[in-house]
Amino acid sequence: MIKAAWQPGQYLKFEDERTRPANDLLAAVPNQNVKTAVDLGCGPGNSTELLVRRFPEAVVSGVDSSGDMIAKARERLPALGFQTADIDRWQPAENVDLLYGNAVMQWLPDHEQLFPRLMGFVNPGGSLAVQMPDNLDEPTHVAMREVASEGSWADKMAKADFGRTTIGSAAFYYQLLRPISQRVDVWLTTYNHPLQGLDGIVEWFKGSGLRPYLSLLDEDERLLFLERYKQRISRSYPLMDDGTALLPFPRLFIVATR
Ligand SMILES: C[S@@+](CC[C@H](N)C(=O)[O-])C[C@H]1O[C@@H](n2cnc3c(N)ncnc32)[C@H](O)[C@@H]1O
Repeated sequence: MIKAAWQPGQYLKFEDERTRPANDLLAAVPNQNVKTAVDLGCGPGNSTELLVRRFPEAVVSGVDSSGDMIAKARERLPALGFQTADIDRWQPAENVDLLYGNAVMQWLPDHEQLFPRLMGFVNPGGSLAVQMPDNLDEPTHVAMREVASEGSWADKMAKADFGRTTIGSAAFYYQLLRPISQRVDVWLTTYNHPLQGLDGIVEWFKGSGLRPYLSLLDEDERLLFLERYKQRISRSYPLMDDGTALLPFPRLFIVATR
C-alpha cells in the first residue's frame, strides 16, 4: 500500500474548514462527564485541542501513525501525551470514556471488524465518535482516478493500492454498532466550502486525497498531473462572479454510546 507522507503545513492551510466537522462531531457526544479521551488520527493536534477545550478536567491524549503529525501535535499541546501508532494495532492501557476519530477511519480497512474492536475500549456510558469524508464519488475524486488512469504514469498508478477504504452506508454502521451500544446517532452533512478558485480545490486535496498519487510522480510529472486534474475539475466546479469555487463536501458522522 502507498504510505505517502502527511504534510502538516499543507494540511493546515485549511485548518478552519477541516476543524469544523471535528467540532460538529464533538458537539454530538452526549456524555458530559468524560474523564479520559483519546484522539485517534490526531494529526497536528487541531482536533485534540477541541477535546481539551470541551473536557478541561479530562486526561486527553492523541495517537497518529505519522511521526511528522505527532511532532506538530506535541508542539501545539506540549502538556499532553501523544503516541505514534497505527490504530489497527493500537489499544489503550485502560478503557476510556471517549474514543474520537475525525477524518481518519477512511484510511483503515475492514470497518466491520475495526469499529466493534474500538467500541470494546470504551467504558459503559462512554462514546465512540467518528467522522469520515464520504467523497469518493465526488467529481474531485473521480477526476483523480481518471487522470491517474490516462497518463504515462497509468501503469504504476494501476498497480498502487492507495489505502482509502470505501466507507459503508449509515445503515451499515447503525446495524454494526446498535447491538453493542445504548444509542447510535448517524448522520450525513454536506459542507459547501468557498475556495479561491480551482487552485483552492487543488491546494485542499494536495493536503489529503491527492497525496498518494503525487507521491508516485517526479516533479515534472507532478506538475502535469495537477494541470490535467485542474482542467478536469473545471467542468464540475464553475467559478462564481468573484472567482470563488464552491466545494461541496459530504461527510458521514457516527456517535455510538455504550
Ligand atoms: C485527515 S488527517 C485528520 C487530522 C485531525 N484528526 C483533524 O481532525 O483534522 C488524518 C490523520 O490520520 C492519520 N492516520 C491515517 N491512517 C492512520 C492509521 N492507520 N493509524 C493512525 N493514524 C492514521 C494520518 O497520519 C493523519 O494525521
